[in-house]
Amino acid sequence: MDYFKRTKIAQILKQADQPVDSAIVMGWVRTRRDSPNLTFLEINDGSCLANLQIVIENPEKHPDIERAKMGASVRLAGTLVAVPERKHKIEMHADSLTVVGDCPPEYPLQKKRHSFEYLREIAHLRPRTNTFGVVNRFRSKMAYAIHKFFQERGFYYIHAPIITASDCEGAGDLFKVTSLDLKKLPFLDGGIDFNQDFFGAETFLTVSGQLEAELLATAIGDVYTFGPTFRAENSNTSRHLSEFWMIEPEMAFCDLFENMQLAGEFLKYLFNYALTECPEEMQFFNQWVNKDRIATLESVINTDFIRCTYTDAIKILEKAGRKFEFQVQWGVDLQSEHERFLCEEHFKAPVMVYDYPRQIKAFYMRVNDDGQTVGAVDVLVPQIGEIIGGSQREERLDRLQEQVRLFKVNEATIDWYYDIRRYGTVPHSGFGLGFTRLLMYMSGMANIRDVIPFPRAPRSAKF
Ligand code: 4AD
Ligand code: MG
Repeated sequence: MDYFKRTKIAQILKQADQPVDSAIVMGWVRTRRDSPNLTFLEINDGSCLANLQIVIENPEKHPDIERAKMGASVRLAGTLVAVPERKHKIEMHADSLTVVGDCPPEYPLQKKRHSFEYLREIAHLRPRTNTFGVVNRFRSKMAYAIHKFFQERGFYYIHAPIITASDCEGAGDLFKVTSLDLKKLPFLDGGIDFNQDFFGAETFLTVSGQLEAELLATAIGDVYTFGPTFRAENSNTSRHLSEFWMIEPEMAFCDLFENMQLAGEFLKYLFNYALTECPEEMQFFNQWVNKDRIATLESVINTDFIRCTYTDAIKILEKAGRKFEFQVQWGVDLQSEHERFLCEEHFKAPVMVYDYPRQIKAFYMRVNDDGQTVGAVDVLVPQIGEIIGGSQREERLDRLQEQVRLFKVNEATIDWYYDIRRYGTVPHSGFGLGFTRLLMYMSGMANIRDVIPFPRAPRSAKF
């Protein structure tokens, strides 16, 4: 197939000022224009946004020319010619054309612009569009940046299990994992006898790798997970997925404020990486998706993150002179409308809200001296709301046991977690950054389903 001999279009454009004489290009036809003695093809091979223009002289001499239609896959060999007056400075004059795979005229991706809603219906083809080419390349580059950030700081990448018996967040939004025959379930004492199930216990897809990350952080130091997590909450919103990727760093000997500092440095690093290493993608988003993306990321890089306690946030919301759908008072969880008011209207910037009421957060968070709040932090951003949730963990065994009982966590499934506190306990902290929410914010894409190639959401798992 000449896989190793072909040159990717990204590479050809990079060297446009010193073109090599000849090359083999393989890709898909984006557009075709015919004149009496010339055919022009625009080829895209997915390596970058730009197409390469191919000029074919005497098209009637190429037996495959009729089949080189929009959507068809082709192999082209020819001479690369500098064209300084054109935007991409280089084009190919083809000597040979082979159609590898034909494409019928009912190809769903026609030349006009398609709505994101329509493209979600053909998620198996949408990566071929300009926007989703950019999105998917951007995802890959940002995933690399995430590893780079942590590896440069001496963190170890760990793999938390995907199947688990514990409900980390205690929200109960779990997908069950079983090999039992659903038509012949074994019952015991009025309930299902999970002792007969594959793992001998009730198991789920994980909602978070945090509990396991805590075990490793208190053994090999700073660690991070970066993997898929699953939530069965029935939220059909533009910000929720049932399967999303999360990055969860966990640091031993680290308190809440150091945790917040790391979260801020992490976000700034990622924004800076995108602006310097992904100019094509950021310019595309800025031009076609959301006009102020570049300026927004620049302004976050150049300012300190605002920090605000939950208690102060409630005071701000009470004084807002605004009728919220959900009324605020100390003790309630912040809804998206409150989070958005704080960062879009009050602070006009991302904000870190910390020290939340104990009852509305997870059992593992460290109880503050006031007995009322826990050392939790959420990072809120305009348009989206929460992109990071983190905390200092309760490292005192007796206080953790108190929390476990208060939150009615099944102690039998969590005893192993107590061991960290039994044997050389240390203050430790971490946070979870939703990768898809991060990409939404950075790109300005309005729907979370448009920054993941195959979104999983209620009633949606076809492809
Ligand atoms: O706030 P969450 O639930 O925190 C945890 O899971 C902690 N165990 C993290 C930790 O401290 N290690 O989730 C963390 C982040 C949220 O801030 C959000 O960005 C994202 O995960 N997230 C979702 N993203 C897409 N769809 C959903 N349904 C999400 N739920 C949470
Ligand atoms: Mg949260």
